[in-house]
Amino acid sequence: MIRTPEFAERILQDDRADLIFIARQMLFNPFWALHAAEHFGLTGEFENWPEQYGWWLAKWGGALRAKGESLDGSEKYQEAAE
Ligand SMILES: Cc1cc2nc3c(=O)[nH]c(=O)nc-3n(C[C@H](O)[C@H](O)[C@H](O)COP(=O)(O)O)c2cc1C
Repeated sequence: MIRTPEFAERILQDDRADLIFIARQMLFNPFWALHAAEHFGLTGEFENWPEQYGWWLAKWGGALRAKGESLDGSEKYQEAAE
């Protein structure tokens, strides 16, 4: 089962598939594809996110990145685990 962006990307990079469909993970997180794009730094200015708050995420994301932090806060989980 494909759950993470890394796994989906690896399948594509290894030429094991031309296209990835996500079913159960999209039920869990309907924004899975948007999060995957953000994870790989492809989100740009969040122009494809819901416009009600995409503009705000762009501002917030810029501020976090300036501090060396990511939007998903994964580096904080890392620190807590160490
Ligand atoms: C809510 C739900 C409904 C589904 N309905 C169908 C269906 O009607 N016909 C079908 O062939 N597969 C159906 N499936 C199976 C999905 O096609 C299958 O789980 C998917 O291809 C596997 O991808 P995943 O590992 O990302 O969930 C359904 C899956 C879910 C979660």
